[in-house]
Amino acid sequence: MWATAVGVARVRALETERENALFHDPLARAFAAAGGLWPTTPPPPGDDDEAARRRRLAVAFSIVIRTRFLDDLLQQASAAGVRQVVLLGAGMDSRAFRMDWPEGTRLFEVDTAAPLDFKASVLRQERAVARCERIPVAVDLREDWPGALAAAGHDAAAPTVWIAEGLLIYLPEDAVEVLLARIGARSAPGSRMGLTLGSRGVIERFGADAVPGSAASLWVSEMPDDPVGWLAGHGWQAESHTLRERAAAYGRPMRTPPRREERPGGLISAVRR
Ligand SMILES: C[S@@+](CC[C@H](N)C(=O)[O-])C[C@H]1O[C@@H](n2cnc3c(N)ncnc32)[C@H](O)[C@@H]1O
Repeated sequence: MWATAVGVARVRALETERENALFHDPLARAFAAAGGLWPTTPPPPGDDDEAARRRRLAVAFSIVIRTRFLDDLLQQASAAGVRQVVLLGAGMDSRAFRMDWPEGTRLFEVDTAAPLDFKASVLRQERAVARCERIPVAVDLREDWPGALAAAGHDAAAPTVWIAEGLLIYLPEDAVEVLLARIGARSAPGSRMGLTLGSRGVIERFGADAVPGSAASLWVSEMPDDPVGWLAGHGWQAESHTLRERAAAYGRPMRTPPRREERPGGLISAVRR
């Protein structure tokens, strides 16, 4: 399952090489290389038709836009005085190393042991130096991760900015509900949250005929019809953005016309009420 995190790093490495890159992730290439995805590899057997190529491009595009969206959200949280960051399902996220953090920022990376060990070996090899206090927390999000986070020093009485990027789509809907309740229980007033949700219909369009073992074949949950209302029920004042709208704002407009009337988007920013 965590191999998907290396695939995300590969996409970020490709974006980093662009002239007009929306972010720079200098470690992404090392993660991709250590995971055997760099230099870029040919498509897996049976996944080389035009439709599959377009799907891969669409997923890569969404990763680039969401990365920039959450970078901005984190910068805004820092500017508002939030000094705790929790990356849930952190994977190969290298924000601890590539972003500017105010003095006193503590950044917790929650993921299972295998990806965190792989990440640690690449970070050692690259002699990477974090730009804040970085605290990896090896725990399965289906287990008592709030306990592990508290034991690692997370202070539930101080505001936190939570990020669940490319994670919720892999969790069944009841597990997403539990996750949100647990986040809420450790979110002091002024906390913030950035989420990426699977767009409605994405599993039907991309997941159902996905190549076994590919990231898309593991997708299980999509966003609710009314993500803002859903999050209000969890105690968050949320705004939802579409990929299309954010992509245009970043100067990277989508060339394909909307499939139908645009629904609320899968990029969420939220503040704890
Ligand atoms: C697609 S990757 C995204 C990684 C990262 N958020 C990013 O955008 O670069 C999903 C990550 O979620 C982690 N993950 C999935 N299920 C998990 C679970 N039950 N407990 C902890 N981590 C989990 C995986 O190990 C993987 O690193």
